[in-house]
Amino acid sequence: MTLKTAEQVATMRQAGAIVAEMLARTTAAVRPGITTGELDRIAAQVLKEHGATSSFLGYYGYPATICTSVNDEIVHGIPGRRKLREGDIVGIDAGAIVDGWHADAAVTVPVGRIGDEAARLIRTAEEALRRGIAAAKAGGRLGDIGAAVQGCAERNGFSVVRNYVGHGIGRAMHEPPQVPNYGTAGVGRPIGAGLCIAIEPMLNAGGAGTHLLDDGWTVVTADGSISAHFEHTVAIAAEGPVVLTVPGEAAGRPRAVPAARRPRRPYPPRADRGPQDEVEHGGATEGFARGSVGTR
Ligand code: MF3
Ligand code: CO
Repeated sequence: MTLKTAEQVATMRQAGAIVAEMLARTTAAVRPGITTGELDRIAAQVLKEHGATSSFLGYYGYPATICTSVNDEIVHGIPGRRKLREGDIVGIDAGAIVDGWHADAAVTVPVGRIGDEAARLIRTAEEALRRGIAAAKAGGRLGDIGAAVQGCAERNGFSVVRNYVGHGIGRAMHEPPQVPNYGTAGVGRPIGAGLCIAIEPMLNAGGAGTHLLDDGWTVVTADGSISAHFEHTVAIAAEGPVVLTVPGEAAGRPRAVPAARRPRRPYPPRADRGPQDEVEHGGATEGFARGSVGTR
């Protein structure tokens, strides 16, 4: 597992801003009647505008720019002719490469009006990600993240997928360590400054079981229940977690915050603050590993 320098993290943040734009533009286009293939083309267009490339296209032969996972599809759904329908939920997962550095993020969004359970599942999955990010602190352990995600999911009556996990990220989309969405606080690999990970809770309304479709990619729930997925790429600074997959502008430096409003000690982040908030005060440069990329 490699630790990243501030400069390397800054490049990943550029990739992250592009990923955020891919998600924003595809999400904005989601409505009954649109096909998942059209969403894929929108994402490809964003990459083209920035001269970036997809982390997914061609990855072990993966045939599209993004993944679109509808209803009981958990992750890695392949965009195509499928038309989204009112009441569906769709997970959109995107990755971008800038100068050889990756960022990876996902959201799950409603198609038109959706049912109460689906809405609650989406809300809980996003909240679980927020809590997982807040738990990703230098000096902690990977189990802190899993415990935070799992606790949030299970308190709300949902199950956490165990057969697929989050991951280290950097020069490759998938690097060690694995980042499970379940676990025990205080247990597991130490989390150190310079670690970059994709935290990606997948929550099922029913059981945690998974099944791989014949296309070799699409992962569905074993029991047919619906599933929601959220993901951010996060860099661990000495001061706390910094979300890299957020919209541009802020990229690379803390956004200007009036001095009076600037909190004295922005970190550690509170669980009730959103990822966006973390980055607004993210004086990212200080805490990262210095010098060449270290291997642990
Ligand atoms: N966020 C997904 C993951 O880390 C992205 C998968 S890309 C694919 O598994 F190419 F493998 F589909
Ligand atoms: Co990922």
